[in-house]
Amino acid sequence: MSEGAREAQGTAGAEPGWRALCPLAAIPPDGAKGFPPDPGRFSGIFAVRRGESVFVYLNACPHLGVSLDIVPDRFLAPGGERIRCQTHGAEFRIEDGFCLKGPCAGASLTAVPSRVEQGVVWIGPVPD
Ligand code: FES
Repeated sequence: MSEGAREAQGTAGAEPGWRALCPLAAIPPDGAKGFPPDPGRFSGIFAVRRGESVFVYLNACPHLGVSLDIVPDRFLAPGGERIRCQTHGAEFRIEDGFCLKGPCAGASLTAVPSRVEQGVVWIGPVPD
């Protein structure tokens, strides 16, 4: 079955390692939301929503490995056009997590596979 056909059938939850993260409505339309680490893991994840699209990353700055949000759920720079690490101000593209400026310029956030189906955000296996 093609990826497109699989998505059309809404089968993300049937794929090994995929699970529902939250309702899309739980993330503000142009905002972001953090989620705690799974048991036994150091880093949580966070999701940035742009309309009906969601981008999910490991909540670990490539600079020092710390969480990006000192204030819970504050993942975006003023204006909301970039992700920003609150520790030393590195800024990342929302769409692919590439660091545009800051101490880890040229590095990238670690992406978590994700998709939105029928108003639910699904994620695949979370990388280490
Ligand atoms: S820890 Fe993120 S910019 Fe330094």
